[in-house]
Amino acid sequence: MRQPLLTTTPAYQALQAHATDAKGWQLRQLFADDPERFPKLTADAAGLFLDFSKNRITARTLELLVDLARERGVEAQRDAMLSGEKINLTEQRSVLHTALRMPRGKALVVEGQDVNADVHNVLDRMRVFTDKVRNGTWLGASGKPITDIVNIGIGGSDLGPKMAVLALRSFAHPRLTMHFVSNVDGHDMDAVLAKVNHETTLFIVASKTFTTAETMLNAGTARTWFLGRAKEEDLARHFVAVSTNTQAVAAFGIDTDNMFPFWDWVGGRYSVWSAIGLSVALAVGFGYFEALLEGAHAMDEHFRTAPLEENLPVLLALTGFWNREFLGATSLSIAPYHQDLSRFPAYLQQLDMESNGKRVTKSGQPVDTVTCPVVWGECGTNAQHAYFQLLHQGTDIVPIDFIAALRATHDLPGHHDALLANCFAQSEAFMKGKTADEVRAELTAQGLPAAKIDELVPHRTFPGNRPSNTILMEQLTPLTLGALIALYEHKTFVQGVIWDIASFDQWGVELGKVLAKKIQAELEGDVDQAAHDSSTNGLIIMAKAAKLP
Ligand code: F6P
Repeated sequence: MRQPLLTTTPAYQALQAHATDAKGWQLRQLFADDPERFPKLTADAAGLFLDFSKNRITARTLELLVDLARERGVEAQRDAMLSGEKINLTEQRSVLHTALRMPRGKALVVEGQDVNADVHNVLDRMRVFTDKVRNGTWLGASGKPITDIVNIGIGGSDLGPKMAVLALRSFAHPRLTMHFVSNVDGHDMDAVLAKVNHETTLFIVASKTFTTAETMLNAGTARTWFLGRAKEEDLARHFVAVSTNTQAVAAFGIDTDNMFPFWDWVGGRYSVWSAIGLSVALAVGFGYFEALLEGAHAMDEHFRTAPLEENLPVLLALTGFWNREFLGATSLSIAPYHQDLSRFPAYLQQLDMESNGKRVTKSGQPVDTVTCPVVWGECGTNAQHAYFQLLHQGTDIVPIDFIAALRATHDLPGHHDALLANCFAQSEAFMKGKTADEVRAELTAQGLPAAKIDELVPHRTFPGNRPSNTILMEQLTPLTLGALIALYEHKTFVQGVIWDIASFDQWGVELGKVLAKKIQAELEGDVDQAAHDSSTNGLIIMAKAAKLP
């Protein structure tokens, strides 16, 4: 159904009027006015706790935001996605990453395809394969067990597995070292090849399409490297593929018995749950991979059944929408206070920005509001000593999602309290700030002369009133990681519904790919100067001149 433009809808207009009233709100005051703010503006599900009380909202704001979600049809569109309707309109595809984590035996038949049976057939094959590699019965061609696994893939075929393998480091197999090569930059592959032994290395070529230029070049380089040291018939013990494209896998020379398939209804950035997660299953074992799926399924069930006002992904989406739309926040910073989640911001960048970085509605009209913020971030406490200065005292409002585990997965004394203290202190500082009067009183107590105090007060004042969410889990485990990823997936979905944008395509990456192909040919042959501007020509000519004869 064609949606009206967002700003024309009654719920949006009610929010807009409310936002005018909200302009002067101070978080400090909102907390002082209502001692029950924390219990009122927190929720939990699937092992995750969300504190969204440090957003510049009230219970009324939430009501109006939920009205908007209802008016935009979040519930109906969620149900359409979960039941396999072709909600990816520009590619005429279903969007069924949730089916990848459904328990065995749940009925889901889409256009005659028994999706649940297909998913579990592949999971069963993954279990057999990962068990063999992990217990040392899958041997390399010279009879040695595998010690190193190299996942070759990019975008969704890299970011999810790499993030999850790192996040679940504490659960990993001690014999297996995982490597990820994504960049077309040969330095990436070179660094990995320098470390591994061809006799004990397994390459996973992970590509939904099996046509992605970077992955195909990297896979070709790995094969050439391997064949320089082994025989053609040894390939089958050292190369496996994960793809939807059987023909291309066979053409590349990988035995299709060693191919783990998935389906076009799995978007690349939503594919870690599919066979694209093979490297995760190899690292942590199939049991923990299943727990990852289970955690995500628990979040799916919550998303499917919980009322919107208690629904974690919806709440995260709505507060994010409010900050973007009415506070003018152009970016969202992700601050995991957990070193093992250090790739999570990069993972979310693709999830959110490739999904909702769009400027037209589903029906092709220009949107009439802003859409997806820039997503970025880094682990705390490192981020505090790098760019938090700007977040505290800069001119932009940058909302932050703090993510932490209440218990560590290590037993080093002292560290975890220090980590959590910093996490909670930062969200408090962003919320409260420090007034000029407070600074003045502090400096006076230190005995500074009045003139010095006047000079320092503006520099040492913090405006505060800066919004954040805090997401807590008991411990970072496969279960909670699964729930966390699914939380953000559904958040992205809900925001896409509100903006009425096509969240499941990514046409925006195509232009650069086409131009790169042309320029690569010119770097290797003649420059087509007429085809480019003077800057691009200049750069191409410099690169050609720098080539060794
Ligand atoms: O170019 C963008 C993209 O299509 C992503 O959406 C995708 O995750 C990535 O490239 C890799 O694609 P593939 O898995 O087909 O190699």
